[in-house]
Amino acid sequence: MNRESCFYITTPIYYVNDVPHIGHAYTTVAADVMARYKRMHGIDVLFSTGTDEHGQKVQQAAQKEGVTPQQLADRTVQNFKNLWEKLNISYDDFIRTTEPRHIEVVQYIFKKLMDQGDIYKGTYEGWYCIPCETYVSKSQLGEDMICPDCKRPLEKMTEESYFFRMSKYEQPLLEFYENNPTAILPESRYNEIVSFIRMGLKDQSVSRTTLKWGIPIPGDDAHVVYVWFDALINYLTVCGYPEDEQRWRKYWPVVHHLVGKDILRFHSVVWPAMLLALGVNPPKQVFAHGWWTVEGEKMSKSKGNVVDPFEIIEIYGVDPFRYFLLREVSFGLDGDFSEKALVQRINFDLANDLGNLLSRTLQMVVKYFGGIVPEPMLEPTKEDAEIGKEVVKRLMQKFDSYMSRFAYDEALREIWAYIGLANKYIDITMPWKLGEEGEKDRLSNVLYNLCEALKNIALLVAPFMPEKSFEIWEQLGLKDKLSMDSFETMDRPFPAGTAISKKKDVLFPRIDFKKWAVEKAERDSKKGLQPDPGEHEDEISIDDFKKVELRVAKIVAVDHIPGADKLYKLSIDLGYERRMIVAGIKEFYSPEDLVGKKIVVICNLKPAKLRGVVSNGMLLAAESPDGSQLALLTVDNEDIPLGSRVH
Ligand code: MSP
Repeated sequence: MNRESCFYITTPIYYVNDVPHIGHAYTTVAADVMARYKRMHGIDVLFSTGTDEHGQKVQQAAQKEGVTPQQLADRTVQNFKNLWEKLNISYDDFIRTTEPRHIEVVQYIFKKLMDQGDIYKGTYEGWYCIPCETYVSKSQLGEDMICPDCKRPLEKMTEESYFFRMSKYEQPLLEFYENNPTAILPESRYNEIVSFIRMGLKDQSVSRTTLKWGIPIPGDDAHVVYVWFDALINYLTVCGYPEDEQRWRKYWPVVHHLVGKDILRFHSVVWPAMLLALGVNPPKQVFAHGWWTVEGEKMSKSKGNVVDPFEIIEIYGVDPFRYFLLREVSFGLDGDFSEKALVQRINFDLANDLGNLLSRTLQMVVKYFGGIVPEPMLEPTKEDAEIGKEVVKRLMQKFDSYMSRFAYDEALREIWAYIGLANKYIDITMPWKLGEEGEKDRLSNVLYNLCEALKNIALLVAPFMPEKSFEIWEQLGLKDKLSMDSFETMDRPFPAGTAISKKKDVLFPRIDFKKWAVEKAERDSKKGLQPDPGEHEDEISIDDFKKVELRVAKIVAVDHIPGADKLYKLSIDLGYERRMIVAGIKEFYSPEDLVGKKIVVICNLKPAKLRGVVSNGMLLAAESPDGSQLALLTVDNEDIPLGSRVH
């Protein structure tokens, strides 16, 4: 766990020619969770976000609307600010690149680098992508002259340009990365960037004469600063560079940039080279997250499938959305957004697991103790220890370790494993039975322990779901009794004698799937989208089921797949043939556990390639809602021959 006393976290600054979508919400929520988490550890946090307002894209969008670029920016910046308010983003600074404080810093840096010979004047000729604001290098050019990223046509441009001597920083940058192997995460991205630098760095064009909407270059009116050179500097402006030396020297050494994978090169090649030229350390860490597709497709305005975060929040609430974004996909990998998956998370993880735990506990405190949390009367038992102090201590250690590498999904999985334990504790101790049998002392222990567990759960989920965790806090009656601002409260026992304040409204209302599917189809058709037939397939006919060819098979060999943490390659015997399937069960079974098991396999599934291995079928397994438990469906009668149909 990073125990430094300061922490600086940034989101990219967003272009103002676009409306905010799920991609923008994703990085910003991720940064917010980390900022809140660090603050709860008593760390002095600087958290910044903002807007990137210069450049061709904004100029063109403004022209189209018949307004000035500044007018466009002034209007659209509000969309971002409104969304951050709705999403409870606790930023400390919102920077706009058109603010005087930023323009001054950019001009100062430009001049400084020019004076020291790291920026020089030359001419540039190349193929330029206007939407991406970038020249495409020769090696990336195909015959069709389209942008390798956005696939739109490129334009040939020749211009006089100022260049940043990036080539000079190739070796220092490589040395920096050699000495700082965690400066780029995930590790695969680090390797990618280091190989890219090793291929050689060219000087970077950092000015434009073809447009007016940019920061003027000091002493040369014909040029404006290239938008990326301008934008990256926002991170220094926010922390007070160069004037407020005390401030930037406090926050800069611990700066963490969260960015999408598409803009990693700017952040881990161009930007650190600029910083080295300035004599400032490169960022401590750049984390590149993956991209969201929507229901399996790339998000695009023309398809009309861009996910509008305002709409999602309106329908499902802010905290379920925040939770979903970080729980559904490992931070760093690509993910797919579907409302159906969101509904499932709400119903299983939030309503079933967490919501139920709270309501069951509070109901019993009301029923058996008149709404006052009882004092534990007896020595703790073995069952009590299952959710007790030692378990919470270990949970916290794991939680911290996941958070230290932005493994939000794993951190949440740990909390939910604990929620699972608390629910199991209710099932095992059966407090209602203790109540009926008049075992008041034991009942006091059980209900007290559950309130204590809920207190800790509320603290742990607070960075992810600030509103709902506060609601839990209030219902537990802790509002004026214990501080929610610090993880130190984990060590403070739940004050017995507290009057709970159970609300009638449930914490996370369950969503009726059938009703939801109808409403979703209506919304889709209003947007001109084809309703997803899958959403109506709640019921299937017996004939549908018969199409699935389920058979008994025996596992005969298990192999690892290089680089795959979760997958095994299984050789299975169906009696009439042997085949290979790939199964994501590595976390739950060792090869020795598997060999010889008789399992159930879907045999007529289209083959699929996973990590380069073709899987000819799929095994069946049951999974607990939080994903922490998994059990294979096995056939326990030796006399059933291999290949038998399962109906
Ligand atoms: N203005 C630049 C950033 C300058 S930072 C010094 C920019 N802006 S952007 O508005 O186009 O994109 C901002 C971020 O949104 C990027 O990190 C990008 O990866 C992210 N996303 C855009 N679409 C996305 C998805 N579909 N999924 C996840 N993130 C995506 O680039």
